[in-house]
Amino acid sequence: MKKLILITALLTSALFAQVKEKIEVPYVAFPIKMGKGFDAIQTNCLMCHSFGYIINQGRQSKKFWHGKVMKMVDHFKAPMDEQAIKETTNYLFEHYGNGKLK
Ligand code: HEC
Repeated sequence: MKKLILITALLTSALFAQVKEKIEVPYVAFPIKMGKGFDAIQTNCLMCHSFGYIINQGRQSKKFWHGKVMKMVDHFKAPMDEQAIKETTNYLFEHYGNGKLK
């Protein structure tokens, strides 16, 4: 029993570890384009991650963006209905599209 208490104390003590120096976490802003459909992006995408993922894809086709939105819905369970899927896909293609549908 004493051993158990000792082990627990040792393990939990790490949770109270402190660092003397000031830690600065860099702030990275991802400027997203404003415009029609931005509301949908803010409502449906920002709840899980920053806009960085979107911006880092570069200009892509409508099929690509629709695929990404569907990936978020199917794999990561983004709570989006048909309307939200349409609005976000249109926004992405309009602002981060390459003009090609496929
Ligand atoms: C339920 C949470 C959730 C929501 C909502 C969500 N995403 Fe994601 N998304 C993720 C996760 C988790 C990853 C990281 C996947 C990885 O690291 O492999 C990701 C990654 C991405 C990527 C990187 C490329 C890729 O294929 O992984 C893109 C682009 C992206 N999301 C776009 C969007 C867009 C656009 C929306 C809004 C329509 C959105 N996400 C909403 C969870 C979400």
